[in-house]
Amino acid sequence: MPDALRELTVELGERSYPILIGAGLLGTQNLNRYVVGQQVMIVTNETVAPLYLEAAERCFPGKQVARVVLPDGEKFKDWQTLNLIFNALLEHRHTRKTTLVALGGGVVGDMTGFAAACYQRGVPFIQIPTTLLSQVDSSVGGKTGINHPLGKNMIGAFHQPEVVLIDTDTLQTLPQREVAAGLAEVIKYGLIRNTVFLDWLEQSMARLSELEPSALSEAIYRSCACKADVVAQDEREGGLRAILNLGHTFGHAIETYAGYGEWLHGEAVGSGMVMAADLSRRLGLISESDRARVERIVCQAKLPITVPAGMQPDDFRRLMAVDKKNIDGALRLVLLNALGEAVVVAGADPDRLQETLATFCQGACQGSGRE
Ligand code: NAD
Ligand code: GLY
Repeated sequence: MPDALRELTVELGERSYPILIGAGLLGTQNLNRYVVGQQVMIVTNETVAPLYLEAAERCFPGKQVARVVLPDGEKFKDWQTLNLIFNALLEHRHTRKTTLVALGGGVVGDMTGFAAACYQRGVPFIQIPTTLLSQVDSSVGGKTGINHPLGKNMIGAFHQPEVVLIDTDTLQTLPQREVAAGLAEVIKYGLIRNTVFLDWLEQSMARLSELEPSALSEAIYRSCACKADVVAQDEREGGLRAILNLGHTFGHAIETYAGYGEWLHGEAVGSGMVMAADLSRRLGLISESDRARVERIVCQAKLPITVPAGMQPDDFRRLMAVDKKNIDGALRLVLLNALGEAVVVAGADPDRLQETLATFCQGACQGSGRE
């Protein structure tokens, strides 16, 4: 039986949708009210399918449920793999009244959402995230898409789901490295908006790493509440939503440089947040003790605080130039004005940026961090 179910709403007018959070929800919640017609296509991958596909199918009693099982990995977040979803939809004669269901982590979620945004010019979809990262971040807010060899998440669309179903029990099968990657995005919410949550995270990190259910549930609820609030104010990232990208400009450069999937997204974001804190300190926005606190909590979560071996400042510059936040060639970075307060800085002092990049690239050569 499911434990107490907690519910949040992403307030977007007629496109508002619920986020349902609880233990034991998969297979026990009937999601048919979010399905427009008779057809459902569950998209998952070869790791998640044996664990949760059967339970997910039970959420749609009486519907015609088809499935497509993708290869697993960030390196498959591309056109070829996306096309497997379209192939399956067409082979099963799915119409405009079909509903796609993303069952898996952020890779499956982003690709399924993008497929739903494109198929027959747009069909509804449901998010059933099964990694910590996807439960606290990627399943909420409607950013969907795939990678391009020249840049992360560069091809995509905004397309909001009908509902997000978060069964916290699914995290019990998640490898420890993926748990840590998810914690990076949880820490992000504390750093950008909420020092009370940051304090709580510092106290609770060991329980979170050990997947203690009540701590996890609280972290997921608080993270989703923060994301839902930001998305409700700025769905298409005209301004405020950019703060959700703290550490991501550095992180995306790391992911692209290392080769998609070599560094997990959350690992790259963890390191990227420490770099953003370092630059914030060099620009006089935060104190050294605040910078050190950011580094400490990222370490507490067992995340890397350096960059890939061999990566040079020029690699960062080249890759950071391909970022969706940049405008007219000017680099825009999310930095910290204070702990709990993120700010978008356009054209940060290039000398200070160079110092940050050089410091971290030097650290990598000495072999610290993840490598
Ligand atoms: P992922 O989807 O690759 O999943 C991580 C690994 O865990 C995979 O091997 C997966 O098969 C496996 N897995 C999933 N659920 C499992 C479970 N319950 N038990 C055991 N194994 C399980 O990675 P992720 O960290 O979930 O997501 C990263 C992706 O999300 C990146 O592509 C990133 O760009 C994207 N992202 C998108 C947004 C957004 O707003 N759309 C936000 C953040 C990240
Ligand atoms: N993960 C960043 C965003 O959803 O805007």
